[in-house]
Formats: sequence, C-alpha cells, structure tokens
Amino acid sequence: MLFDRVKSLDAILLTAEKKGLHRSLGAFQLTMLGIGAVIGTGIFVLTSEAAQKAGPGMLLSFIVAGAVCAVAALCYSELASMVPVSGSAYTYTYAVVGELLAWMVGWALILEYAVGASAVAVGWSNHAVGLLNGLGFHFPSAISNADALMAKVQLGLGATPSKDLTMALQVGGWINVPAILVCGFVTWLLIIGTTESARVNAVLVAIKILALTAFVILTLPVMNAANFDPFMPTGATGVMGAAASIFFAYVGFDAVSTAAEETKNPQRNVPIGLIASLFICTAFYILVASGAIGAIGAQPEMGAPGMPLAPGSPELAGRCASVVASGALEPLVCSKEALVHVLDTVGWHSIGRLVGLAAVLALPSVVLMMMFGQTRVFFTMARDGLLPEKLASVHPRYRTPHVVTVVTGIAATIAAAVLPVGKLADYSNSGTLFAFMMVAISVMVLRKVDPTRHRPFRMPLVWIIAPLAIFGCLYLYVSLPWTAILVLPAWGALGLLVYFLYSRRRSHVGRGNMEVPEEEAYHGTEPPQPGTR
Ligand code: ALA
Repeated sequence: MLFDRVKSLDAILLTAEKKGLHRSLGAFQLTMLGIGAVIGTGIFVLTSEAAQKAGPGMLLSFIVAGAVCAVAALCYSELASMVPVSGSAYTYTYAVVGELLAWMVGWALILEYAVGASAVAVGWSNHAVGLLNGLGFHFPSAISNADALMAKVQLGLGATPSKDLTMALQVGGWINVPAILVCGFVTWLLIIGTTESARVNAVLVAIKILALTAFVILTLPVMNAANFDPFMPTGATGVMGAAASIFFAYVGFDAVSTAAEETKNPQRNVPIGLIASLFICTAFYILVASGAIGAIGAQPEMGAPGMPLAPGSPELAGRCASVVASGALEPLVCSKEALVHVLDTVGWHSIGRLVGLAAVLALPSVVLMMMFGQTRVFFTMARDGLLPEKLASVHPRYRTPHVVTVVTGIAATIAAAVLPVGKLADYSNSGTLFAFMMVAISVMVLRKVDPTRHRPFRMPLVWIIAPLAIFGCLYLYVSLPWTAILVLPAWGALGLLVYFLYSRRRSHVGRGNMEVPEEEAYHGTEPPQPGTR
C-alpha cells in the first residue's frame, strides 16, 4: 500500500511535549512574527508585475489572493492548534494523509522557501541598486540583473529577435551580483547561528509599517479617478493571473504556525497570530495598491493587442528601456522598485529614498526567515529518515545545521543570480499553493477519521471553507504562467524518484520507529526559532 504510512498524531505530540521548548511567545509576538515574514518583495516590487498583468484591476487581484490565504489560514489554524509542533504543513500531512503525500508537501515546501528566498533577494537587489544610484553611485546594470542573459537564452531557443529583445540585450545585465551578496550574507548568518531576535523583528516590522503608512498618506490625496480607467484592460484572466503572482506577497504567514511549539497557549494564540497578521497585511496591501494606481496609473505595456508583455520578460525590459530612452516618464509596470518609483513620480523624492532604505533594511530578514524555514523543513525530513542524516549534521562550534544551510544557500544564490524576481515568485507560489491545498485536505480527512479528538481551534463551516481553500489554491495555480505550472509536476516527479529510490526504505516510520530520535535531532542541533531568542 502506498498510503499506509501514517505517523501517529499521539507520537508527534508526545515527542513535542518531551522536547520541552520554552513557551514564550504570545499573540502579539506571533502577529509581529507573521507580519515580519509576510511584508516584503511582494508589495515593494511585485506590485509592478501585478499592474503589468491586470492594470488597475490588480486591486481585485490583491483581494482574491488575500481571500485564498485567509481560508487557507483558517485550515492552518485548526491543524496548528491541534498539532502545535514544528514542520508546518509537512508534519500535519504526515500525521493525516501519510508519508508519501507528506514527502510531496515537504518537497513542495522547498520550492516555497528556497525559491521564495531567491525572489526576495532579487527584490532586495533592486532596492539596493536604486538606493546607490540615488546617492550618485551608479551600480553597473551589467551586474545588477539578468535581463540580457534571459534575452540571450530566448534567442538561443529560437525567439524572433524583436526590437524589445535586442534592446534588452543591449542594456540588460548578465548576473545579479547584489542578490548573490545578500544570499551569501544570510547563509553566513544562519551558519554562525544568528537568528532574528523578537526585538529586531519588531523594529523591522515597525520600519515596514512606517514605510507603507507614509506611502498611503502621500499617495491617497493625489489620487486621480481617471487612472482607474480602463479598470481591467486585460480582463478577468489578467486579474486572476495577477492574483496568482501577487499571492507571493502573502506567503510567510505560515511561519506563525511553525512557532507553535514555542507559543504560550498555542490553542488561542496561533489562530489569532495567523489571522491578525494576514488581516493587517491585506488591509495595507489594498491601501498601497489603491495609492499606487491612483497616483500614477497602472496600465500595462501591450505586445499584441489585448496581450500584455510578460512581466520579467526581456521583451518587457527592452520595451521599458525604449520608453525611458524616448524621454517619457517611466510607467509603474516598468519599475523595479514599485513604491519608491511612485513616490518619486509624484515628487516625494526624499521620502521615496527612505522607503527604499526601509526595503533595504527589512528585506534581508524576510530572506532569513525563508531560508530558515527551508533548513527547518529539511531538518525535520532528515530527522524522519527521509533525507540523509548527514544533511542534518551539526557544526561543532556553531551548533547549527551547517550542511543543510550551505546546500540551501547555494541553491538560492544560483537562482537569484540568473532569474528575474517575478519568475522566482511564480515558481515559489506553485509549491506553496500545493502545500496549502494539502493542509486543507488534511483538515477534512482528520475531521472524518478522528472526529472526537480535541480541537482547540475548530474551524467554522469546515465543509465550506476547506473546499473553498482547495478550489482557491487550484484556481490560482492554473492561473500562473505555464512555466510555473510546469515547475510543480517536474519538481514533484523528481521528488517521487528520490522518495522511491531513497527515502521510502530509510523512513523511520517505515521501519516501525514512530518516535522521533530526539537525542540526535534536538539537543543542541535544532536551530533556534526566529523571534524567540
Ligand atoms: N511575502 C513575502 C514577500 O512578499 C515572501 O516578500
């Protein structure tokens, strides 16, 4: 049987109890942890990409993506309050729908976290370069993005050498050095055991909230209703496509559930933390998007009539370079630092620079959270015997899982060096949507197979909300660009190969060892949770 290996929920809970991590986080800290992990490249950078896909209709995209995350968050809350242990979606599915699907979820979480970290790193690079340029230090374009490289690849694959592609070749870059630097820096921080303290997180959250608030205060008064017309230049398909991409802006709230083991009264505080952080971020995103559209407009650059050029494509990069070269104002959809650009365009140059500085200061912590999440998932999988234990080996001096951290760091660095931010975010989304869907399925399965178990947070209307979450995730998934849609099955196929060739035989549960070997796994080897030290 393929689906017979289920890890007993009681065994998981017992192990968690034995570990006895100090429970120090309350609802407020959890909410801060959630906001810290959520607000990042999505709103600061991908707002341009959403505009390129949907025009002003991106407002609806933000709402749709937020709604899907809200129903998914309710599902997370029920499981996180019942199973307040580490490993997030991977652990829940292991307990409910068995090892094979849990493996697939863990494998998909690699996309979410490692590729997500690369996306945020590229967003950071955009702001760092913009800030340096603003200070008069011109960072060479050739080494601050990979637009020319992408154009070369497309031409190599037989694309027609259009005017836009030729322009991208001339002015685009070949490698994203700032993104490499920030990935390297964060990897080093994780190796030497630096995790973010709750205090540092609180300061960074305050900086981000301040930046977004300033943006809203300065843009809402100069809104022009005409900028909302036409509202949906690319139709409902464009709006859903943008929702699928901007979904990235909400990713990270699940970090709250991974901190459940270190939360006081997790039954109450985890659902509050998840839902409050999501609610606050959604409110900000809608205000910020309205301000951006209203202040400078958000019409897409079209290729063929009715067909917007793909965000992140060398064609769009080339088109944007031509627009700017013609002396016209750079449109929102061309900007690599959406919010800074809007403020600049409406005349608030110095505040724009400060918003850029806020992004430069705060985004590395989002990269850190994502890379940390990755090491945590790898770690839990190795602890369960599904990945080589060597991966979970610990640095003798720093007591951190340095091997897994270096592997994650190298992978994230390579992706960040050569791929555009939008593509990375879309790939990350395909993995995240799969994990969210599995969590929603697990909630329903558990209600059926274990109906009497105590549910400290019982999701209301489960038979409506969980199917809605599944439907929402599926809809967003099929609305992604086709390359991102293909990434999940391709990555999944590789995962199945690894599972059947390696993991299945070595699984601790498969060998009848249900309990986690905590001596190996936790004493001194577990990286500390962000936000707790
Ligand atoms: N939601 C996070 C961001 O937008 C990942 O950067």
